[in-house]
Parts: sequence; C-alpha cells; structure tokens
Amino acid sequence: MKILVTGGAGFIGSHTVVELHQAGFEPVIIDNLYNSNHGVLEGIRKITGKDFPFYEMDCNDTEQVRELFRKEQFDGVIHFAAYKAVGESVEKPLNYYENNLISLLVLLRAAKEFNVKSFVFSSSCTVYGQPEHLPVTESTPRQPATSPYGNTKAIAEDIIRDHVHSKPGLKAISLRYFNPIGAHESALIGELPNGVPSNLVPFITQTAAGLRPSLTVFGSDYDTPDGTCVRDFIHVVDLAKAHVKALELLDQQTDQDYYDVFNVGTGEGYTVLQLISTFEEVSGVKLNYTIGPRRPGDVEKIYAQADKVNNVMKWRAEKSIAEALRDAWNWQKKITFEK
Ligand code: WQD
Repeated sequence: MKILVTGGAGFIGSHTVVELHQAGFEPVIIDNLYNSNHGVLEGIRKITGKDFPFYEMDCNDTEQVRELFRKEQFDGVIHFAAYKAVGESVEKPLNYYENNLISLLVLLRAAKEFNVKSFVFSSSCTVYGQPEHLPVTESTPRQPATSPYGNTKAIAEDIIRDHVHSKPGLKAISLRYFNPIGAHESALIGELPNGVPSNLVPFITQTAAGLRPSLTVFGSDYDTPDGTCVRDFIHVVDLAKAHVKALELLDQQTDQDYYDVFNVGTGEGYTVLQLISTFEEVSGVKLNYTIGPRRPGDVEKIYAQADKVNNVMKWRAEKSIAEALRDAWNWQKKITFEK
C-alpha cells in the first residue's frame, strides 16, 4: 500500500517512514523542508537502503497536491506537516491557523477527489489542557487550548471527524501524542530543532554536548513528587510504530465513516527532574541545570491512560525512558562531534 507521509522529513515523520518500510508499506514523502533538511532523507536511505520518492512541496499548494495525488494514487495519508512551536504560535497565530488548517483542507479535498481510503492525523495531548483527572482517557473532555498551536490540533480533529461522517469514503484516526523523545538507535535520524530548542530533551542533550551553558528547569513548585512538571515521555520509534498500527486498523474497518481518536503514550508520568537524573545515568554526564520560574502555559501534569491504544489498536510502548535518552544522546553526539 502506497502511503503519503506529509512532513516525512521531520522528527516523527522520518521515523515513521522507516517503520512503514519495515512493515511493507510504500512511503512517499512530501516536505517543504521548513523545519528539516535533505540530510534527514539521507539518514532514512542509510537505514532502509531505499530512496523513497520525495517531493519538496508545500501542502497548502492545492494544484501541486492534486497533481501529486493524481500521479501517485495513494492508498492512505499520514499527515504530520504542521507548525508546532507552542510559543511561536502565540506570537504568530494567523500563520499557525493558516498553515496548519489550510494544508489539512487541501489534503482532505485531494483525498476525496482521488479516492484515498485512509487518513492518520498527528494530533496532540495538548488538546486536553490541564486535565482534572489523571491519567487522561480519550473521553476526557478537551479543554480550551492553551495555545493557538494546540487549538489548530483540536480544530483539525473536528474537521476530520465531520468530513469522515459526511461519508466521503475516507476512514480516519487521530493520534494524540504525548511527549515524543529519543532518536533512531542507528543515530542516523533524530530530532533537529531549529535554533534554540523549546522542548526539554533536545535542550538537555545540547547542554550536555556543551552547546548551551545550562538548562533551566521551568518551575519546581508544582503539586508533583519533586515539584517539577509531569509528562508522559514516549520513544519516537514506538510512536512511529503506532502509525503503522493505525493504518492496519483502518484497513480492517468496514464502516465507511469510521473515525476514532487514540492516546499514544506509555501510560506513565515522569517529572522533569526524574528525566534529568535518568539522562545523567545513561549518559554519564552531570547535567548543568538551574531551577527557574514556571513557563507560562505549561500544564502541571499529564500522562495517558493507554488502554484503548493497547487493546483496540494492538500497540503498546516497548522502549523505556532510559533507551530514549540513550538514543537521544547518541544522536546529539553524532551531529555535534562527527562532522
Ligand atoms: C516538557 C516539560 C517544561 C524545556 C509541547 C507541546 C506538545 C508537543 C511537545 C509538539 C515542561 C519543561 C522544557 C526547558 C524545562 N508539541 N522544560 N526546560 O510543553 O510538554 O509539550 O511540546 O510536538 O504538543 O504541547 O513539551 O518539552 O516543551 O516541555 O523545564 O528548557 O519540560 O516546563 O514541563 P510540552 P516540552
């Protein structure tokens, strides 16, 4: 089955291309390289031994997208391509609503025109805001988004649900990611944040590599075991495999208006300080960090109840936090010290 992977040169997209190939799918990558580069495609080629079709293009370009769908005749789409920086979305909301939502509409219209059967959407646990009860299940009410970025994910889920329920012949799944971390064990692909990382783990590995003087831990006065925020950190390769399982589940569905949502997390919460101490254990590096003020908009604690994805989608996180941090550190050393 031929699968379009939008944003396939990105962090989660590139790892998913590898897992799709391993599972016997035929991935086709589109990416505008806004937040990636050709080196990622080289890494994918080294891991898989394959040069997958790659089109440098923007999902917002209706004519280019239609032309691609006409040419490639996809069986399914996995849609990663989106702007994803929470802070930036607060500064530039119109850019986020336009890019993240117009691209989705363009893809859904092309999928209908060219009879694509399956659509997997990259959503986020950010749609839950600060849940009242933990762990969060898929029926946990969505909270008003804490950022325009998060709002684009919530609106996108509703667009996909309403479209599928109009019976266009498309079945869809939204995967609500928790916190993806780590890299491929080969250290040939990994996370490539542009500029100063906003996410925790790339900031940790860059600090450990001497690229940053120190890490600031945003707040230690939360109502958690050690006062720092709690998150559900999931290895990016486990997350990539969940996309393969989602396509397989969609392929088994007979309801033509099948749409569902799955939390994709480990089901366990770790604090920021626990993650830092695990990193120090696996890397042997004493991390230089200070405790600073809370970051506005941060959720105090969130982690998934993963029963539905375990039982219905037959997927379960297999890799540990330690493995994820080891792989993230190997990747950072590779891109920093091996030119
Ligand atoms: C995790 C924890 C910070 C950096 C967001 C989006 C989510 C997804 C991932 C895109 C928080 C703390 C962080 C630092 C710190 N988006 N932290 N010092 O905010 O949970 O999730 O990014 O893929 O949809 O909501 O991830 O890694 O930014 O922060 O103390 O330098 O680490 O306060 O508690 P977050 P994060």
